[in-house]
Amino acid sequence: MARLHRLPLEALRPLLVEVPHPRTPAWRELSATSRPLSWPELFGNDRPVEIEVGSGKGMFLINAASTRPETNFLGIEIERKYALLAASRLVQRGLANVRLACTDGRWLLEYGVASESVQAIHVYFPDPWWKHRHHKRRLLTADFARHCARTLRPGGLLHFASDVAAYFEESCRLLVEAAGLQPVTMAETSDGAYLSHFERKYRLQGRTIYRGRFLKAR
Ligand SMILES: C[S@@+](CC[C@H](N)C(=O)[O-])C[C@H]1O[C@@H](n2cnc3c(N)ncnc32)[C@H](O)[C@@H]1O
Repeated sequence: MARLHRLPLEALRPLLVEVPHPRTPAWRELSATSRPLSWPELFGNDRPVEIEVGSGKGMFLINAASTRPETNFLGIEIERKYALLAASRLVQRGLANVRLACTDGRWLLEYGVASESVQAIHVYFPDPWWKHRHHKRRLLTADFARHCARTLRPGGLLHFASDVAAYFEESCRLLVEAAGLQPVTMAETSDGAYLSHFERKYRLQGRTIYRGRFLKAR
C-alpha cells in the first residue's frame, strides 16, 4: 500500500461517524443516551452492511469496499491516529460505500447496532493481551461474542483471524458456546490474498494464520 499521510479533518468528515469515544469526558452520558445507528441514514441506501471491528490502517476496508461496491462497510477503530489514516486512504480512493467510527467496538456493537441488522462482521488479528491481568482489554469476550450474534442477520457470518493459536481457540469456543454461532470453516493458511495489514506482516514473518467463519443460523 502506498505511503500516505493524513488528510485534513475537513476532508475526512463525510466518512467519519459521529460517535462517543471512551476517552472523552462525556462518554458516560453519551453512552446512556445513544441510540442504534440507522444504516439508510448513514449510507444513503438500503444495501447490506458489514462491520469490521479493529480496522487498523484500513487495508481490509479498502479491498472489500472497492471490490464489493454493492455492500456498505463500517469500520470501527479505537485508536484515532489509525482511524484517521484509514479514513485518509479511503477518501483518496473515493469510496462511497464505507464509513469509519473511532470508538470502542465493544461499546458500539452493544449500544449502536440494532439486532439482526448486519450481514457480516470481520475481526482480524485483535490484540491478544497476553498477560492474565490484561485479559479484560481483549476484544473477543463472551459479551462481545453475544453482541456479534445478536446484531448479525440470520444467515450472516462472522469472519475471524488470528496468529495466536490459544486466543483463536478460546475465541472460537466463545463464539460457539456463549454466542450460539455455528462454525462453518476453520483453516490454517499460509497462502492466498492477504486479508489485512497484520496478515501480510505475520505471513511475511512465517507465522501460521488461523481463520474461522461462523454462521448465525436462520
Ligand atoms: C493488531 S491490530 C489489527 C488491525 C487490522 N485488523 C489488521 O488485521 O491489520 C488491532 C487493531 O484493533 C484496534 N482495537 C483494539 N481494541 C479495539 C476496540 N475495543 N475497538 C475497536 N478497535 C480496537 C487496535 O487499535 C488496532 O488497530
